[in-house]
Amino acid sequence: MVLISLKEKYSTCTLCSELCVSRSQVVFGSGKFDSSVVILGEAPGLSEAKQGIPFCGASGKILQDLLASIGLTRDDVFITNTIICRPPKNRNPKKKEITNCHERLIQTLDIIKPKVIVTVGNFATKVILPQEGKKGITKIRGNVFETIFDGTLYNVVPVIHPANLLYNGRSAVIFDAMKKDFETIKEVIGNITSRLPQKKIR
Ligand code: URA
Repeated sequence: MVLISLKEKYSTCTLCSELCVSRSQVVFGSGKFDSSVVILGEAPGLSEAKQGIPFCGASGKILQDLLASIGLTRDDVFITNTIICRPPKNRNPKKKEITNCHERLIQTLDIIKPKVIVTVGNFATKVILPQEGKKGITKIRGNVFETIFDGTLYNVVPVIHPANLLYNGRSAVIFDAMKKDFETIKEVIGNITSRLPQKKIR
């Protein structure tokens, strides 16, 4: 299956009885369909639900600044969320909603086949790294993990959620830590690229 068909399939998903009624639209994901990097956030917020694009509000602006700090734009990566419908009043995703959205995540990753998954915040991290995620994002952020998720090996870098920066009055200390973590992501991408077979030029 191609990603556009998967997006179509989930645009009418009714697995979560509350979310499928409260949502304005499903926010499937956006970016490069064959990127080696997937950014996995928590859930769409108000701006995202209005526009149908993940991370297009205040948190998204910070994410774009962080990507820019390592020479990337949002079009270089694929961005999606742990659940793809906005929870009412931006409440936390429920366990059942995360479970309901799991197969969609597996199928998305299976099509894109990224080398690196950047898990943004606690919810995304716990889905991809169930064991390490228990320690909490502040303990494990910026570390590089190798994990097998549904039979496929991925490099995973958990990072602090940009919303955290907003809650903390855009603290320079937190922002610097976040930038450092994105430097790590850049290194991981570089290491992977240098391991890929090089084309011979004659
Ligand atoms: N926060 C998220 O986790 N995801 C979004 O798409 C927007 C804000």
